[in-house]
Amino acid sequence: MAIMNSIDFDFSLSIEQILDQIAERGYAIVENAIDKECIDALLAQAQSEHSEFVTAKIGRQSQLTEATSIRSDKTKWLNGSSLAEQTYLDKMEQLRCLINRHFYLGLFDYECHFARYNKGDFYKKHLDAFKGRSNRVFTTVLYLNTPETGGELGIYCDDKDELIEKIPPRAGTLVCFESERFPHQVFTASDVRYSIAGWFRKNNSISGMVDPSS
Ligand code: OGA
Ligand code: MN
Repeated sequence: MAIMNSIDFDFSLSIEQILDQIAERGYAIVENAIDKECIDALLAQAQSEHSEFVTAKIGRQSQLTEATSIRSDKTKWLNGSSLAEQTYLDKMEQLRCLINRHFYLGLFDYECHFARYNKGDFYKKHLDAFKGRSNRVFTTVLYLNTPETGGELGIYCDDKDELIEKIPPRAGTLVCFESERFPHQVFTASDVRYSIAGWFRKNNSISGMVDPSS
């Protein structure tokens, strides 16, 4: 199993948990998924670059609009410019390959951004993808700090309006879910909250259709 040798031990354990939970219920919540040094470095980077974060946009391509009534966080795309970013992107690449192999999905890439929620910021209930309209297949959220209260991620049942998970952000926790299937929201933050939200994508034409999250 040559590929397993290239995966560090902790993360290969996390990957197994992620795959099992996804197979069972379509989403996964794994604490301490990424080692602390990497999380600390990503947090330090996000904090030092926070003046470069911009108001998050809603929609796709020509329909991109600022929508601060729906979400009020600020974001910055990762581009692999630091060692910590590269380490994180490498891990997501390992996860992408294993998800493809387990679930026979043609996920072809991963895009992700830092997000900063200040006290009072929120993201109302939304889907990251609409069936057949978007190329986002799996959403990931990695938390970089641990606010005392607030800023929980609420995940709703796919067909009912029922809250099935309310996940407090904790540094190192990775949440992963099927983008078309689970409406979710970020409850109002009481403290500054840093995360990396990302999407594994498949290659299809979206022909300018509206995607509620970008
Ligand atoms: C998003 C999102 C959830 C979170 O950015 O689309 O839903 O917990 N984020 O930050
Ligand atoms: Mn979302």
